[in-house]
Amino acid sequence: MFKKIKKHIFPVAKFFFDKYTLKQRSYTYEGITVNVSAEVFPPHFTISTKIFLEFIKPLDLKNKNFLELGCGSGIISLFAASKGANVTASDINKIAISALKEASEANEIPLNVVYSDLFENLSNQTFDYIIINPPYYPKAPQNDKERAWFCGENFEYFEKLFAQLPQHLAPNTWMILSEDCEIEHIKKIASNNKLNFELILEKSVLKEKNYIFSIQKS
Ligand SMILES: C[S@@+](CC[C@H](N)C(=O)[O-])C[C@H]1O[C@@H](n2cnc3c(N)ncnc32)[C@H](O)[C@@H]1O
Repeated sequence: MFKKIKKHIFPVAKFFFDKYTLKQRSYTYEGITVNVSAEVFPPHFTISTKIFLEFIKPLDLKNKNFLELGCGSGIISLFAASKGANVTASDINKIAISALKEASEANEIPLNVVYSDLFENLSNQTFDYIIINPPYYPKAPQNDKERAWFCGENFEYFEKLFAQLPQHLAPNTWMILSEDCEIEHIKKIASNNKLNFELILEKSVLKEKNYIFSIQKS
């Protein structure tokens, strides 16, 4: 029933969402502010960023090596760094990278910001935590803005990520996914690369189920 309503609401919501995100908007969490331009994944209305922020809130991250792979606005990275973690924030979007460097200075929260296609420029580092909020709609991205949403017609993002991940896996490697995406297909790509998903959080927001999975070697 809710899915049917959602189908009708979605085009209207998308119209306002697209209009709102055309301008640079600021987003604040726990006193940390990031400026988010139209080319960068907006944490304002999307549920996944907020779920991850709340999930890491009670953790003792002091002196832990923490990677946010595909950091977007970087609000999660800045929050983790404010809790004492040694944070590396990476993204393939150069606008996101340069905005996060500015936000790091403006908030006086140091972190390591790296331009990288997945693990390409992160090869010699190990982490206690790796967190990933991936793009998951199966369509080819046409530009950096779309890379925040689309994983390629044939899930190329996941094919490449899960091929690389076994060499980089952290004791806590976490990925958030929504019931809106093809979770079974994504799990299958992981399992082809000898990776296993274990559910560690299920959270419904506006009747949409979101899941955080821990990824381990199978
Ligand atoms: C859904 S957004 C999540 C952003 C942020 N982690 C958050 O939770 O707000 C996905 C992010 O992954 C980045 N991304 C997509 N493909 C990537 C790749 N091949 N390498 C690194 N980052 C990538 C996008 O640019 C985008 O910032």
